[in-house]
Amino acid sequence: MYDIIRGSPNGSCFGFPQQFGLFYSLNRTIKIGLPRNTSYFWRKSREMIKKIEHIGIAVKSLQSSNDLFKKLFGKEHYKVEPVESEGVSTSFFMLGETKIELLEATTTDSAIARFIEKKGEGIHHIAYEVDNIYEEMDRLKGEGFEVLNAEPKFGADNKMIFFLHPKSTNGVLVELCQERNDEIL
Ligand code: CO
Repeated sequence: MYDIIRGSPNGSCFGFPQQFGLFYSLNRTIKIGLPRNTSYFWRKSREMIKKIEHIGIAVKSLQSSNDLFKKLFGKEHYKVEPVESEGVSTSFFMLGETKIELLEATTTDSAIARFIEKKGEGIHHIAYEVDNIYEEMDRLKGEGFEVLNAEPKFGADNKMIFFLHPKSTNGVLVELCQERNDEIL
């Protein structure tokens, strides 16, 4: 029960007894919107991993692959976005609810450059949408998955993201992502 009344460390809140701590905590959670380490009770009411948000494909040339995927899908990509911190440029196609993310390396030492050097072009990662990226990071660490980032970080297309090491996920690089909004910056 500690988590749910974490609004105060000793279980009371401004002199109120413990049960008032619950209301304080829920109210605070709703207002702040970042319920890290919330109780299992709270977490159980959420869906943890919701759907495949996108599939990331490593390509040598974004320009020629944009043309290729345009022919394949019969529609244009809806954005191109560089992610300088990762040394990549990305483009996105929307297919129903699912996106395809193309990734081209912009630096020779980026993860995509190394991936293509080792394995050639192809599927690089599968990204799953989650309700709460911080909770999922804690949960998956607790389940024994190897997390590649100390904290969720900014990703392309207005997301907070982190990755799981492929050696802990049957050889597939897994990205977890959550849309950024006013509550999660
Ligand atoms: Co991605």
